[in-house]
Amino acid sequence: MENKFTKNICCIGAGYVGGPTMSVIAYNCPEFIVNVVDINKQRINAWNSNDFSKLPIFEPGLEKIVKKCRDRNLFFSLKVEECISEADIIFISVNTPTKTKGIGAGFASDLKWIESSARQIAKFAKGHTIVVEKSTLPVKTAETIKLILNSSKQNNKINEDTHKKNFSIVSNPEFLAEGTAIEDLQNPDRVLIGGEDDYSIDVVSDIYKNWVDPDKIITTNLWSSELSKLVANAFLAQRISSINSISALCEITGANINEVAKAIGSDSRIGSKFLKAGPGFGGSCFKKDILNLVYLCRYYGLKEVGDYWEQVVDINQWQQRRISSLVIKNLFGTLSNKKLAVFGFSFKANTNDTRESPSINISKDLLQEGAKLSFYDPKVKEKQIVIEFDKSVEEIFINDTALKAAEGADAIIVLTEWEEFNYLDWKKIFDVMRKPAWVFDARVYLDKENLKNIGFKVWSLGT
Ligand code: UDX
Ligand code: ADP
Repeated sequence: MENKFTKNICCIGAGYVGGPTMSVIAYNCPEFIVNVVDINKQRINAWNSNDFSKLPIFEPGLEKIVKKCRDRNLFFSLKVEECISEADIIFISVNTPTKTKGIGAGFASDLKWIESSARQIAKFAKGHTIVVEKSTLPVKTAETIKLILNSSKQNNKINEDTHKKNFSIVSNPEFLAEGTAIEDLQNPDRVLIGGEDDYSIDVVSDIYKNWVDPDKIITTNLWSSELSKLVANAFLAQRISSINSISALCEITGANINEVAKAIGSDSRIGSKFLKAGPGFGGSCFKKDILNLVYLCRYYGLKEVGDYWEQVVDINQWQQRRISSLVIKNLFGTLSNKKLAVFGFSFKANTNDTRESPSINISKDLLQEGAKLSFYDPKVKEKQIVIEFDKSVEEIFINDTALKAAEGADAIIVLTEWEEFNYLDWKKIFDVMRKPAWVFDARVYLDKENLKNIGFKVWSLGT
């Protein structure tokens, strides 16, 4: 390829973070070449699909950007080694789930994909390469990456290239939220860049300065940057657990959680965002990052601090169990031979991501009680729902419309706040259900009075 590009960027990992982030960088920096590599062939094929509706990630605005940039300066490929060797800057955007076994199981992050990426970079990079941590990582991960990169000279056969090889590590955590990823990337509240040398920090800052106001670029040392990402997610999740804990109190006292949220959120010191009560937070980050923080605190002997943050996760699980118990109680204490419709399976609206979705745990509780579940989600594919349950086709049904999901059901449980649920023909839905027909609105956003007027029995969280 003719080299008309001024910088060569490679991103390892074409997932929910790597894919949209690199698309937005390519979009705003046409003079840079951006290669997004992954070992998952199916995912790369989907990114390269001619049918843009088949991109592996659904994000409002993403399709338009990929259409514009793909094969111009944005490429999705399986050629990990080649793209690493050509890159000046390498973003690591691989998955870092919570460890399921060994030391720190259930709390610490599994860094095996980070380690293998670092080893690949160590082996194939040429000259001076800036390695950017994009995935959310435990504090001090940069140290591990640095160790692996710097030991590459010992592992590789020494030749002239080896001597020229050197690395700088930069932490540049991503704060995008799914469902608004493109908007968040285009207009970030801030861009955080932590590093050890000014040159590398400047190089990474210069990428963002192509579209972000320089005043919004915050530079710190490596560890502050890594820790800030964990703490930002912990604070956000804490707000959700706080409001959810109060939702239970509202139900008992006759207060209304949306009214309370509005009243407290009008205090500019508290602020109105992230005060929406619901079935608890899901997504790949919050739980993982808090548990990671808890592990870190305990590792450094700060038991009380670890216990404090762990409560945020405990309340989240409690809220989900509370909702399933309430459904069971209202349906006369038994779900056997009952069909329940679950509206929404993604962890929030406007995404097809189901990782840690509250729908999973709540559905499992209901299945445990003998219910048959009938699902409808506008964006989540059948396969993705089925994979979560070890259940037969007699117990779970996936539908392509809300109406079909509700047919013969005793109750509808609304778990994701998809806008279209507000505009359903609820009268028609009522008519196809068994009576008494219930709606459990765990997102507190449907028109309760309208539903009641139709004839539904309605439970709305926190009211
Ligand atoms: C989050 C952070 O917002 C983002 O900065 C970070 O980079 C990744 O983690 P994400 O998980 O994509 O983003 O979505 P977010 O909008 O934060 O929602 C997380 C969960 O909290 C969802 O399940 C959502 O439904 C729930 N939530 C959010 C509430 O229940 N109430 C709220 O007020 C806000
Ligand atoms: P995130 O939400 O953090 O983006 P995802 O799981 O959506 O997480 O994406 C991470 C991607 O990283 C996956 O597609 C996975 O295949 C990819 N990946 C993991 N390890 C490597 C590796 N060593 N080389 C290339 N890609 C990798």
